[in-house]
Amino acid sequence: MSKLEVSAVGAGNVSLGGEISVHRLGFGAMRLTGEGIWGPPKDRKGAVAVLRRAVELGVNFIDTADSYGPGVSEELIAEALFPYPEDLVIATKGGWNRPGPDQWTHDASPEHLRKAIEGSLKRLRLDRIDVYQLHIPDPAVSFEASVETLAELQREGKIRLVGLSNVTREHIERARKIVPIVSVQNRYSFADREWDYVVDYCERNGIAFIPWFPLGAGRVAAEILNRVAEAHQKTSMQVALAWLLQRSPIMLPIPGTSSMEHLEENIGAASLKLKQEEYRELSAVVELAKAG
Ligand SMILES: NC(=O)c1ccc[n+]([C@@H]2O[C@H](COP(=O)([O-])OP(=O)(O)OC[C@H]3O[C@@H](n4cnc5c(N)ncnc54)[C@H](OP(=O)(O)O)[C@@H]3O)[C@@H](O)[C@H]2O)c1
Repeated sequence: MSKLEVSAVGAGNVSLGGEISVHRLGFGAMRLTGEGIWGPPKDRKGAVAVLRRAVELGVNFIDTADSYGPGVSEELIAEALFPYPEDLVIATKGGWNRPGPDQWTHDASPEHLRKAIEGSLKRLRLDRIDVYQLHIPDPAVSFEASVETLAELQREGKIRLVGLSNVTREHIERARKIVPIVSVQNRYSFADREWDYVVDYCERNGIAFIPWFPLGAGRVAAEILNRVAEAHQKTSMQVALAWLLQRSPIMLPIPGTSSMEHLEENIGAASLKLKQEEYRELSAVVELAKAG
């Protein structure tokens, strides 16, 4: 495939709450920060260039969070892309903090979420955030209280659309009683299918599903991936992304990278179509791994 044919447009579109339509292959901006998702990147110019190239390649959905860096990923997005192209959707998150390298602490209290969104608006240089996601339910805070706060912020005009992350179906149903939910972001890949039932639920209810960590692991998975990749003269990452795109029309993968080469490779998956038997074989990896 020539460089000109590499475009996120090939993945088709997915709707966010019937309000915004984005190409179904986005970009995850977590890996642009320093090691351990902490501090500035080693190569700031390189990180800015990767973000700009992602948009050139048709990406119009970028995922980030206040905790990536913390603050660093959002600042890089603004540095690279502000003033933003009209169709660019930035989805950020709050409620899960990063007090040090590789460390996470919960705070999805109403007070914290209100403060967090002000910080994200400032760093992203926006008056309103298109998609704001609760990063993870906080075990020490009522889930309803966290979601109600996002609903209030939406009524105040600071958030356009609300999403959830790291949730069960029960969480989604409880949240939808308070505010429309346009997206759910959970860990998911062809070899990591704990949230299959959530994907199906999202498909039935027109909610976008944003899988993170799209390249599944494990020996059986790697063998099958490599074989399918060879048959298409593609890479295993491209096959893993193509499986996700084929899994459901509401799937919106956000592969993340700090490397220009990996970015182009990942976007190159947008137009890869797997044969039915390849799709089925990859889907069965989970059963094979259990059996043996
Ligand atoms: N909601 C949540 O709790 C949550 C959790 C984790 C992530 N996320 C979001 O999901 C996005 C993706 O998740 P992720 O970063 O964990 O997983 P990922 O996209 O699968 O990336 C994982 C690693 O794969 C490498 N990589 C990327 N493309 C590659 C390629 N073509 N070939 C070989 N290696 C490649 C990257 O390193 P290089 O930089 O070297 O390419 C990166 O370190 C994140 O950016 C973030 O926005 C959300």
